[in-house]
Amino acid sequence: MTTDANARRLFADLTGHDPVGLWSAPGRVNLIGEHTDYNDGFVFPFAIDFRTVVAVGTRDDGRIRVVSTFDEVPVEVALADLDTLFPDRRDEVVEWARYPLGVAWALQHARGARDGGGADASASLPGIDIAVASDVPVGAGLSSSAAIEGASAAALNDIWNLDESRVALARAGRRAENEAVGAPTGIMDQMAAMLGERDAGIFLDCRSLEAEVVELGFAPAGLEVLVIDTRVTHAHSTGGYGERRAACERGAAIMGVEALRDLTTDDLPRAQELMDDVTFRRVRHVVTEDERVQDAVRTLRAEGPRAIGGLLDASHASMRDDFEISVPELDLAVDTARAAGAVGARMTGGGFGGSAIALVDRDLVPDVTAAVEAAFAEAGCAKPHVFTVHPSAGARRDA
Ligand code: GLA
Repeated sequence: MTTDANARRLFADLTGHDPVGLWSAPGRVNLIGEHTDYNDGFVFPFAIDFRTVVAVGTRDDGRIRVVSTFDEVPVEVALADLDTLFPDRRDEVVEWARYPLGVAWALQHARGARDGGGADASASLPGIDIAVASDVPVGAGLSSSAAIEGASAAALNDIWNLDESRVALARAGRRAENEAVGAPTGIMDQMAAMLGERDAGIFLDCRSLEAEVVELGFAPAGLEVLVIDTRVTHAHSTGGYGERRAACERGAAIMGVEALRDLTTDDLPRAQELMDDVTFRRVRHVVTEDERVQDAVRTLRAEGPRAIGGLLDASHASMRDDFEISVPELDLAVDTARAAGAVGARMTGGGFGGSAIALVDRDLVPDVTAAVEAAFAEAGCAKPHVFTVHPSAGARRDA
């Protein structure tokens, strides 16, 4: 069954009638620019051809009910009560449901703030039923979460006649992620899910939120992006992600800047004198990664996608050695893909598991895939899930 059909079926099972419409949003691959977003820096992700679909309808009792293919048990709450749930009592809601409910909560607030900060942000909004189905792999570092947020935000924006901009919808998604889910992430994933375009990447300045759509030209260059999902799962609401973020904030404070975005590689010798070794290496990753992102966009425009391979490789080395967010399976995937002929390869997303990407000549896709699978088998690792992705459209109404 297609994802659309799944969402429709789930909606009909829940409500006994057809939805008002279907909206969808994609997962993303980050081409380059990791852990730079919450440092006000640069990122260069693209939306992928795996999507989350929401089937949505209204109800007249001011309640919101969500159901998903993740467990098919509906969660229901009064719109007016969302404020009592988030952020303090979020643990009372099963995790997947915090995404769509969190987006509804954040959009109510955005509307309340815009209309003069009225306390009862849910007043006059119709109740909602949402059925979520997705083909974005979960826990693979491809932002299945931003896909749910993007699809929900696009749907509620239309149904509630909010008339919010795409950037405002991305912000609502991020707020849901940070406060309703409890993951201290940046805004890259939500921006990619909202702004993605076919065959293009989104070059985003995470301080100004100015975004440029940059044609990637993979297909005309005979290149494919291979995702190697290591099946090592990760969760950014726990542990390492937050620690990395804290180290970056510490580094910025020591250097007396608002965010690491404000440093260049010329500042690194002074940073090294002022900080402990771990903090310094976290800072060095972010500062050099910001430069690599800008370099990648420049190089891509001037010389085409084949020329960015070295930057992808350098980005991986920096995440492995300085930011220390890779895992042996990701290193194995990257090293093997490269040895089998990839133009460049790196882990993508927050790290501690998830996926690597490799930029590969179309003809070499079977060889690189086989080499990676063989290397994983030999190392005694679980079989990786290897597949191609294509730069695709952002959030939209489908039906
Ligand atoms: C996760 C977060 C993003 C970003 C990346 C690392 O995907 O959701 O905001 O910080 O990690 O680049």
